[in-house]
Amino acid sequence: MEFSHKPVLFAETMQSLALSDGGVYVDGTLGGGGHSEGILLATGPSGRVIGIDQDDEALAAAGARLAVFGDRFIACKSNFAEMSDVLAGLQVDGVDGVLLDIGVSSHQLDDAGRGFSYMQDGPLDMRMNQSTGRTAADLLAEASAEELADIIYKYGEERFSRRIAARIVARRAEQPITGTLQLAEIVRSAIPAAQRRHEEQHPAKRTFQALRIAVNDELGVLERGLRAAFASLKPGGRLSVITFHSLEDRIVKEYFVSLARGCDCPPEFPICVCGKVPQARLINRKPVVAGAEELAENPRARSAKLRTIEKL
Ligand SMILES: C[S@@+](CC[C@H](N)C(=O)[O-])C[C@H]1O[C@@H](n2cnc3c(N)ncnc32)[C@H](O)[C@@H]1O
Ligand SMILES: [Zn+2]
Repeated sequence: MEFSHKPVLFAETMQSLALSDGGVYVDGTLGGGGHSEGILLATGPSGRVIGIDQDDEALAAAGARLAVFGDRFIACKSNFAEMSDVLAGLQVDGVDGVLLDIGVSSHQLDDAGRGFSYMQDGPLDMRMNQSTGRTAADLLAEASAEELADIIYKYGEERFSRRIAARIVARRAEQPITGTLQLAEIVRSAIPAAQRRHEEQHPAKRTFQALRIAVNDELGVLERGLRAAFASLKPGGRLSVITFHSLEDRIVKEYFVSLARGCDCPPEFPICVCGKVPQARLINRKPVVAGAEELAENPRARSAKLRTIEKL
């Protein structure tokens, strides 16, 4: 197993967290541990990182990579939405920074056995946490045509969602849908040929993204994770979040803006009646994106957006 890819927006993320010597940081999406390593190197000799991941392979790889840091690094198998419980269990009261680098890792995507890829044959699993929950194959077997169409439309922004859902339901009556290439072919066959011809990306890309988001409840978890992360910060602590698609970025942006604004009275109210005050300051108005050099090395950085706030 190898986690070879350089972490996305690495220098930008290190800078965004305003790392301080001896600080305590949470990496809620440990992955291969690249970002965590950067934090540990920049906060020595007593800075600490609590690394959370829900994937056993990521925890093993990062644990090996970061063993040299001894007890400055602690790894926990958990969902970052449960960060408050993790910190309470470690008797950590408040932290100086939290990083969330959302989504699946390149390692997960490239491992055919995990079922995230429409390019390699594998079982339709798609769970980041393989110890619990239902797989993509379970979802495809159990959901109604309407539910499937909604998932594919909402999370995949796929305009042929209904045709794809209808095709899935017809095919599963003949034979269970259990393989990635089997599903990729079903999706391809449901999209009109004229549409397929003028598209650059694989026709199954959006449907695979949608199923992955549904299987892992990624948007619900992100909302809860953001709240838990912000609650765990000390005053002056920073929360940095890297997202890879617009649905996630919108959730982060709206939450950050609401924290920075405070008042949530309707705009037509002449004066504030809610009395809410700003709780955070936006570090950048626009998201930070990858520069030309990183894009040349890593095409997956193309859609990465980094947003940061500081707790007041
Ligand atoms: C994009 S990778 C992170 C890469 C990491 N920043 C690095 O430097 O190697 C995302 C990782 O977060 C994990 N992950 C995603 N959502 C999670 C969640 N809700 N709770 C815990 N881990 C999660 C995935 O299992 C994956 O290993
Ligand atoms: Zn108000």
